[in-house]
Amino acid sequence: MRIAVFAGDGIGPEVTREAVRVLKALDLPGLDLVEGDVGGMAWRKHGHPLPQATLDIAHSADAILFGAVGDFSCDHLERHLRPEQAVLGLRKELGLFANLRPARVFAGLEGHSALRPEVAGAIDLLIVRELNGDVYFGEKGIETLPDGGRRGWDMMSYTDAEVRRIAHVGFKAAQGRNGKLCSVDKANVLETSQVWRDTVIEVSAQYPDVELTHMYVDNAAMQLVKNPGAFDVIVTGNLFGDILSDQASMCVGSIGLLASASMAEGTKGLYEPIHGSAPDIAGQDKANPMATILSVAMLLRHSFGREAEAQRIEAAVAQALADGVFGGDLGGTFGTAAIGDAVLERL
Ligand code: NAD
Ligand code: IPM
Ligand code: MN
Repeated sequence: MRIAVFAGDGIGPEVTREAVRVLKALDLPGLDLVEGDVGGMAWRKHGHPLPQATLDIAHSADAILFGAVGDFSCDHLERHLRPEQAVLGLRKELGLFANLRPARVFAGLEGHSALRPEVAGAIDLLIVRELNGDVYFGEKGIETLPDGGRRGWDMMSYTDAEVRRIAHVGFKAAQGRNGKLCSVDKANVLETSQVWRDTVIEVSAQYPDVELTHMYVDNAAMQLVKNPGAFDVIVTGNLFGDILSDQASMCVGSIGLLASASMAEGTKGLYEPIHGSAPDIAGQDKANPMATILSVAMLLRHSFGREAEAQRIEAAVAQALADGVFGGDLGGTFGTAAIGDAVLERL
């Protein structure tokens, strides 16, 4: 079990530390953790946010546990040297095209959602976000106009092949859950979305047992707040999935609770909280490590087939929350390390 640990910037090392404690506590045979530098800290040490040595570790590992990257003091750098390129580069380099972002309300947390408890209590959804295409990876540029003004541009595109492979992930996920798939696009305006929608419909013929619906992304943002319990699996593109998953996190209660798995074909995956480096609370023992701890559960499930251990971790987090172990993000007083302790005790 060779696992790369890339803690990164800001709260990344703080939340990763607690997640690694939980992983080690399981005492799994053959566990081999290898640390690597990513993000702003890697740029400072090596002049690049994703150094070759880190990439080599990523290639040699069975799975990657990723904290977070991002450092506003790097905002002046050319884009290819910015911290965020570490996570984007790993996703692209390793072909991690399928990002799974589950969101469900833990028992006892209904009152901590930004939504009314009876609305929040029904949330149990999975966002399947395409991660290798869209406006993220199209041609981009900034040009100076003849009048001295500037124009920035980013090319949004999806090929039918790219849509097909993520659609299959969405349909299969729905088969394993409640059999409902909602494809989110903006086909009323974007040609990219027309290809997306046509292709999802084409793929749906292979999944007659899944109920497919389509929704425009603006309406989806609204429905996610109005009636999130109606969603089972959402499949969507890179940008829409990024935005909707942060929104879903507040429906659940905190961005500090949402884990994610980024999968290639096969079992290799990168596991990370959906949140970023949170510079506003970094170094203050204020970050909630639960999203990263839950990412370890996803790592054990999706890369190693260790369902029992995954469930043990999820149960320990759920029990801690039921017992009122809340960080500042949930209106409580528990610090990062104390939340880690609380989860470990219950494990
Ligand atoms: P963010 O997710 O880092 O923070 C948004 C807000 O949520 C902040 O107020 C933060 O304090 C809070 N928050 C986030 N995680 C938390 C946690 N575990 N516990 C408690 N509160 C938490 O988003 P941002 O502020 O927009 O971005 C900061 C940096 O992180 C940027 O450089 C951005 O590019 C980067 N980022 C990286 C990733 C990643 O590494 N995958 C993801 C998102 C953002
Ligand atoms: C995420 C982040 C990243 C994204 C950034 C940091 C590149 O917001 O993992 O959700 O947009 O995918
Ligand atoms: Mn995001």
